[in-house]
Amino acid sequence: MAQIAQLLIPFLLLSIFLSLPLGHVAEEAGSLSRHCLENPPTLNSSYGAGSVKEIGGLKAYVSGPYHSKRAVILVSDVYGYEAPHLRKIADKVARSGFYAVVPDFFFGDPYVANTSRTIPDWLKTHGTDKGFEDAKPVIAALKQKGIHAIGAAGFCWGGNVVTKLAKTNLIKAAVLLHPSWVTVDDIKAVKVPIAILAAELDNGTPAKQLEEFKSVLSQDKVKNFIKIYPKVKHGWTVRYNDTDTTAVKAANEAHKDLLSWLSKYVKKRY
Ligand SMILES: *[C@@H]1O[C@H](CO)[C@@H](O)[C@H](O)[C@H]1NC(C)=O
Ligand SMILES: *[C@@H]1O[C@H](CO)[C@@H](O)[C@H](O)[C@H]1NC(C)=O
Ligand SMILES: *[C@@H]1O[C@H](CO)[C@@H](O)[C@H](O)[C@H]1NC(C)=O
Repeated sequence: MAQIAQLLIPFLLLSIFLSLPLGHVAEEAGSLSRHCLENPPTLNSSYGAGSVKEIGGLKAYVSGPYHSKRAVILVSDVYGYEAPHLRKIADKVARSGFYAVVPDFFFGDPYVANTSRTIPDWLKTHGTDKGFEDAKPVIAALKQKGIHAIGAAGFCWGGNVVTKLAKTNLIKAAVLLHPSWVTVDDIKAVKVPIAILAAELDNGTPAKQLEEFKSVLSQDKVKNFIKIYPKVKHGWTVRYNDTDTTAVKAANEAHKDLLSWLSKYVKKRY
């Protein structure tokens, strides 16, 4: 009897241990990462080197050469298109020769921290399915204006929208930055070259899940780049602290990886 118990106890402990992270993932699947709302931006409608235009029925911050044949759509996190850091990233993308487009997917109603409206309430009318539908006319308008190659990069909420775009032939390449609610089934349906830039500290997209993403994409022969940035939290690429040099450096590294992926797969000529 004692011998059986001795054999069983490590087994039980092991299975409890194994079930912990799994249960955790299941519980988090429907929610945002706990770091998702940290360090909210001070929105600024006049920030950036570009300007605001209407494209495909949405207002959008645009930056870079208007006559470029290549565009990148940047899909925001819940704080929307007036976030200065996001516009700074758009300006960087623009300096590489892309027409950078940051649509206002929230129609003037981004999530605002510390109001009585909770994030689940806000999400009821600002779902990523709607974001995906609203992206279609933006893409159509860009194509109509003569842009033949479009890439998309999405942050957090936007990472989920870009995952949906990556399942279609509407875009040539995708970059997900600390995306939210992306599942293995989503990744199985991805068709275009995809980069996933993930934080080591992200309860929403743990390393184990990223490994699964990698193996699914490689099996399906979809070009992919999956990188886990050490010691950073979900949100680090866009909600970094300006006065913290380590945080700025980590964000810049991600922006560089984003650009090299898009430069490689959103080509000048096809
Ligand atoms: C908003 O951005 C503009 C343009 O960069 C700048 O002049 C202004 O000071 C900013 N406003 C705030 C409140 O930061
Ligand atoms: C929101 O409230 C939290 C908790 O009280 C606080 O830590 C945070 O700084 C507040 N954020 C803003 C943007 O006021
Ligand atoms: C930003 O970084 C500076 C320098 O490391 C630090 O003093 C400050 O408290 C940080 N601000 C926030 C909001 O974390």
